Amino acid sequence: MENVIFLDEVDSTNNYLKSRCAELPDGSVVTARTQTAGRGRRGHGWTASEDMLPLSILLKRPPECENLTARVGLAVCEAIESVCKTTAAIKWANDIIIRSRKVCGILCESVFFGDCVNVIVGIGVNVSQSAEFFAAADLPNAGSLLMLTGEAPERGHLLERIAEHVKIRAATPFSECYDEYKRRLINLNKQVRLISADGERTAVAVDVAPNGFLVCRDENGEFEVSSGEVSVRGVDGYL
Ligand code: BTN
Repeated sequence: MENVIFLDEVDSTNNYLKSRCAELPDGSVVTARTQTAGRGRRGHGWTASEDMLPLSILLKRPPECENLTARVGLAVCEAIESVCKTTAAIKWANDIIIRSRKVCGILCESVFFGDCVNVIVGIGVNVSQSAEFFAAADLPNAGSLLMLTGEAPERGHLLERIAEHVKIRAATPFSECYDEYKRRLINLNKQVRLISADGERTAVAVDVAPNGFLVCRDENGEFEVSSGEVSVRGVDGYL
């Protein structure tokens, strides 16, 4: 595969691409054996050991920007299913779930140069950590491919498949990904807790809007929430 940079150690693969956006070509991929100061969503950290696969992909001026993180989630499900005998689902908006545990997180970041928008797609996959690792790290909702499917794919192979699928889905409008995205979503027709900076409310997740917002219903009727403002949990726990 072209344009893959393999590092021994990096602070964050997203940071690495961010600071080299101008000189690197579109589609560049970077990964590292270990990541010391990786970043997750909502200010969480995402350090990565050799049991994980951190990677970032540079998309220069992507023609299709709408709901990119959801499309990346779909691509990661497809890539995982192409290398492991398993079925992967999505917890809205883009957490990748196997057997009720989160195996992958996605952090897309935009970088602006004048009128040019580049996007860095950051993906962290839990490949082969043990159940004991997640218990000790106090991550009861997380799991690894090894723990949940019985197999740990070779990291280089998984990286290639993820990059391939992400590039395809990144070039496909959300309207053409919509049915497949909805099919994989585990929240639909379930009671959910909607957690935002303003607090928490309970509703039923009934649909996905054409723009990717989650359509919910409570006693006052239907309303839509965006993934930038709200995170979703089940009423009794994670899902
Ligand atoms: C989440 O919080 O669910 C998103 C986690 C994203 C982590 C990945 S690991 C590779 C890339 N580099 C980073 O610093 N973060 C992302």
